[in-house]
Amino acid sequence: MKTIAVLTSGGDSPGMNTALRAVVRSCAHYNLKCIGVIRGFSGLIENNLKVLNTRSVRGIINRGGTFLYSARCDEFRTIEGRKQAYNNLKAANVDGLIIIGGDGSFTGALKLEQEFNFPVVGIPGTIDNDLFGTSHTLGYDTALNTVMEAIDKIRDTAISHHRLFLVEVMGADAGYIALNSGLAIGAQEILIPEVNMSFDKLINSLKNSKKAGKTSSIIVVAEGDKTGKNVFELASQIEEKLPKYETRVSVLGHIQRGGSPSCFDRVLGTQFGVNAVESLIEGNYGLMVGVNNGKIIFTPLSKALKGKTKINKELLRISQIMNK
Ligand code: F6P
Repeated sequence: MKTIAVLTSGGDSPGMNTALRAVVRSCAHYNLKCIGVIRGFSGLIENNLKVLNTRSVRGIINRGGTFLYSARCDEFRTIEGRKQAYNNLKAANVDGLIIIGGDGSFTGALKLEQEFNFPVVGIPGTIDNDLFGTSHTLGYDTALNTVMEAIDKIRDTAISHHRLFLVEVMGADAGYIALNSGLAIGAQEILIPEVNMSFDKLINSLKNSKKAGKTSSIIVVAEGDKTGKNVFELASQIEEKLPKYETRVSVLGHIQRGGSPSCFDRVLGTQFGVNAVESLIEGNYGLMVGVNNGKIIFTPLSKALKGKTKINKELLRISQIMNK
């Protein structure tokens, strides 16, 4: 292993820069050449490569986003696209590739490994926390704190106006952000893709909270919740059933993907970066680096993609005790 390339791909997440810094500096530590790929797999196909040294990554440990930029690349889904990417890697004498991203990015990485026998290691970087083989993905902790702070502010105005707020958070297929932020802000109800809460149950919960004397409430709704209604439809259907509720909707959106990484994500990103480089050096490929109970672990990429992450439904039960 003489040259390692690194890229960030898919939805960005806070801590990607921290992990890039760790990869680049680990390469320098082990006397390896490090090449950064600009704009993920698109940059790999377009041969948009840049040699990185320790100074290239100064001042980025605390910066959100990714200084290498990111992209969702349809062309990499084709064999022609992947062949072009492989040819560019070979032409640049790259011996191993580190991919920082989520499930879509790892699907591409795995194909590159299987079709061309190219050494790859994945670093889980997504706010969704939906990869098997790690208790935390990079950026998830920061996103949770961003959501919590935003909803705390929404609560101020909800209380002032005696209103019910429906707050939509990211997570098209995973309810981790909704569930944990919901518990942290004291939500009346938390709607997540993993659990089907019926509309009637939601209405009952709101009726009970009115009876109990609550004047304002927050419902946290994951993008992909099971009601099958978008958050605006849900709000108007609640108002139809319970006209006493004055309802507002707030969609937090991409604010959740930005911002300076939390201390937790900086420590995690640094550990992930160093371990990814060392894994390639040791000849262990086709893996995703992860963390479990504070320990760094490795999971085959195929398993990280296929394995089912289990959301902690116990937190929903606890939130039901708290929402009285
Ligand atoms: O995968 C991360 C994520 O932020 C999801 O939570 C969200 O559904 C999606 O990306 C949004 O993607 P885009 O920024 O491409 O619209």
